[in-house]
Amino acid sequence: MELIDALRTTGAVRDFLDGEVSDATVYRVLETARFAPNGGNRQAWRVIVVKDQGLRRAMRDVYLPGWYEYLAQVKAGLTPWAVVTDRELERQAVANSPTIAEDAARGPGGFAEHFDQVPVMVALLADFSKLATVDRDADHYTLVGGASIYPFAWSILLAAREEGLAGVMTTMVVRDEAAVQELLGVPDHITVAGVLALGHPVHQPTRLRRDPVESFATIDRFDGAPLESS
Ligand SMILES: Cc1cc2nc3c(=O)[nH]c(=O)nc-3n(C[C@H](O)[C@H](O)[C@H](O)COP(=O)(O)O)c2cc1C
Repeated sequence: MELIDALRTTGAVRDFLDGEVSDATVYRVLETARFAPNGGNRQAWRVIVVKDQGLRRAMRDVYLPGWYEYLAQVKAGLTPWAVVTDRELERQAVANSPTIAEDAARGPGGFAEHFDQVPVMVALLADFSKLATVDRDADHYTLVGGASIYPFAWSILLAAREEGLAGVMTTMVVRDEAAVQELLGVPDHITVAGVLALGHPVHQPTRLRRDPVESFATIDRFDGAPLESS
């Protein structure tokens, strides 16, 4: 497919048609994604394709508490787990998450509750011994390490489009990273960066909502003039 089209329409897809996606297809996706940019070309990523039903259910069970905490924070008007936030409000919001979980348990469930049933579940890992994290010693939350991993995740999502697949990057299980490491036999120095769900989409989005360039691009300074098209 056209590059610009793919870049503009690869939205989060959480509803999948029934039907298997073969290992050969997943292999082809990874075969393309492995060319993603990454610091020093150390390719610190690892993936685990989770197939075992028991493991998948366990992954869902790790996903769900974080998801309900996420919803509780959104409901309270917070950006969930923002680095800059009101921790007391966050604590109060998260305290409501069991109620949200109980409500959800009475309904049919959505993507999160059926996380174990996604056609392809790919756990994304990163090797801390291979990530050059130039902000490692910063006195604030560090970001640079992820920049060597998440382009790879994005490349998986883009390469999946060529196969007629779509999906979503998820990070909720990272709330209980130790549980995922235990389930999947991941050593301590390998961190869990997320889990990708892939499959044949029920519907492929074509129009994503994103802010215009003028709202985030300025010239010379943070408070400089907005970059405009002409
Ligand atoms: C780093 C990252 C983490 C995400 N984590 C989750 C997640 O845990 N669960 C989920 O359903 N979606 C997750 N998403 C998907 C986003 O919610 C989605 O990309 C966003 O709402 C924009 O949707 P759109 O691309 O369809 O417009 C994540 C996306 C990114 C990039």
